[in-house]
Amino acid sequence: MPDPVQVRSMFSRIAGTYDGLNRGLSMGIDQRWRRRVVRAAGDLRGARVLDLCCGTGDLSWLFARSGAQVVGADFTMEMVQRAPAKAPAEARAAQGGVTFVQGDAQALPAPDGTFDVASVAFGIRNVLDPERCLQEMKRVLRPGGKALVLEFPPPGRSPVAQGFKLYFKHVLPRIGGLVSGDRDAYRYLPRTVLAWPKPDAFADSMRAVGFEDVGFETMTGGIACLHWGTRPA
Ligand SMILES: C[S@@+](CC[C@H](N)C(=O)[O-])C[C@H]1O[C@@H](n2cnc3c(N)ncnc32)[C@H](O)[C@@H]1O
Repeated sequence: MPDPVQVRSMFSRIAGTYDGLNRGLSMGIDQRWRRRVVRAAGDLRGARVLDLCCGTGDLSWLFARSGAQVVGADFTMEMVQRAPAKAPAEARAAQGGVTFVQGDAQALPAPDGTFDVASVAFGIRNVLDPERCLQEMKRVLRPGGKALVLEFPPPGRSPVAQGFKLYFKHVLPRIGGLVSGDRDAYRYLPRTVLAWPKPDAFADSMRAVGFEDVGFETMTGGIACLHWGTRPA
């Protein structure tokens, strides 16, 4: 079970190298996965989006580029404070914007029914109580609003997934450790992914907190998985 103090301390240590390592270690595919999340949200012009565990803001800004008004929340100051400077010109052109705040995904400072979309990318796995996080997402969504969760599921049996497992366990901690100076942080990633529920089981958790129209789609040979659900009307 992730210890929030250690998680925050870890992300504060790797904040400076986080974006570069994400792009390098995933060979740029991480942004393709985030763009899939944005497409799954539908028409975003004028939509209110809450992006939880927003980190350095990559997904938040992709939503804003599609015209959404976004709140990006993360409990690690060193991560979230890097996000505003990454504003792309396309966000302003689309009349989208992001307000970044420091906040805990398990206790959101937002009234009930505020958002059209609530998202979390590669974040819920790090939260002490993922079910509580899902409940909070449901609470802050308006009836009919959409929850979108992007995660790394435990690798399946496909050759791509098995190859990724080896890469994840043996190559990634070495490169991540070398570049960030924090090998533990990049050992934490495969450890938590291997302990994360399979897509079917996580979909059941979404149903259990009361989401409707729950579904998921695996991507890139099962390396990443997008989950969705709707707050009942
Ligand atoms: C792997 S990063 C993902 C960042 C970003 N969503 C992305 O796609 O790159 C995980 C983030 O979750 C944040 N986090 C972990 N637990 C949290 C919690 N309980 N509340 C808010 N943020 C949390 C960490 O601070 C970190 O920035």
